[in-house]
Amino acid sequence: MWGTPRHEADFHYTVLCCLVAIGSTITCGRTPPEAARLAVAASPVRSLPRSATLRRSTQQSRSSTIEGRTPDSVRHRSAFTVIPSKAMSTISAIPKTLHFISASVKTPSPVALVTGSTSGIGAAIARRLSKAGFSIVLHSRSSAAAGHALARELGAAAYVRADLADDADRVKLIREAIAVWGRLDVLVNNAGISRVIPHADLAAATPDVWQELHEVNVVAPFRLITEAQSALREAATRGKPGCVVNVSSHAGVRPKGASIPYAATKAALNHVTRLLAVSLAPDIRVNAVAPGLVDTPLTAEWTQAQQLWKERAPMRRAASPEDIAQAVAFLVDSDYLTGEILLSDGGLNLT
Ligand SMILES: NC(=O)c1ccc[n+]([C@@H]2O[C@H](COP(=O)([O-])OP(=O)(O)OC[C@H]3O[C@@H](n4cnc5c(N)ncnc54)[C@H](OP(=O)(O)O)[C@@H]3O)[C@@H](O)[C@H]2O)c1
Repeated sequence: MWGTPRHEADFHYTVLCCLVAIGSTITCGRTPPEAARLAVAASPVRSLPRSATLRRSTQQSRSSTIEGRTPDSVRHRSAFTVIPSKAMSTISAIPKTLHFISASVKTPSPVALVTGSTSGIGAAIARRLSKAGFSIVLHSRSSAAAGHALARELGAAAYVRADLADDADRVKLIREAIAVWGRLDVLVNNAGISRVIPHADLAAATPDVWQELHEVNVVAPFRLITEAQSALREAATRGKPGCVVNVSSHAGVRPKGASIPYAATKAALNHVTRLLAVSLAPDIRVNAVAPGLVDTPLTAEWTQAQQLWKERAPMRRAASPEDIAQAVAFLVDSDYLTGEILLSDGGLNLT
């Protein structure tokens, strides 16, 4: 009789088997990352072989690549898992009319896209969110080898290459990031560029410099949020608002920084953060972390700034990338915070 534990268990097992088979059926003819997404289903299979690793070739888009791997965190933290490809091929005879059941299948661990995550602050953010249980989409403009290496290190990670100065690439990045696991919960707009120009040298801050910095530091984050908006809104339907964290700069808060065009782009990004916090609420939270000096490849030669932080900042040092990653993780974890610009400069602004 329906309702008794035994029959409920039998029913659940039958549904699980259907879901496994459905995953197999709907996977046919899909690209590997999309197939992985569709294959995420309730399954009695708890332990997965590494053969579930996924790869996509560079042919799919002009300048983007994806390397994806089985989300390990799914394996460890959820009843839902990726079905190994061999098992999928043995159970493909379930009619497509049963596909509707897959809509009720819970999705795996939350997914975070971190732009510019092959180096410096972005790599530290990716590692931190990965440790917190996120499946990660890594990204950079050209450093694909570093992206693939970090994807292997993290396990539940995929790498996508895209030039954020190019609008078509921005759109492809979001499309491909969502295709990896079929969801996107967190977008960290970390990628950014800087130009060192003395503030008094107005002629050196040419229109080209202004436009280049504005495209990558302001327009790109806005466009990525635009393209990711519906996926991030879906996160709210799973019980947590979607989340955007923009990595701006203390130079966008105070009249400081590597150059006036750089500082102006970061000030614009801070304002965009507040504006979008209002317009995207309550489904999506939008915050920013504004670092002071951080020890990364970008600042390796900035000896004057390093000296300044040692002498004047109350914390007597520049930040490590992990310090900034910690601030980002805090904002990601704080479901009630939106529109905040979290200054992380070791207290320099107080002096
Ligand atoms: N370091 C600091 O002291 C500091 C202070 C305040 C704010 N910030 C901000 O923090 C963020 C990260 O800085 P970081 O020091 O970690 O930089 P970084 O080590 O130079 O790394 C920059 C990352 O962004 C990617 N990137 C740059 N331009 C891109 C483009 N056009 N399209 C796609 N990806 C692009 C790079 O990819 P490729 O390597 O492939 O080019 C790399 O992965 C930036 O927004 C920066 O403005 C840094």
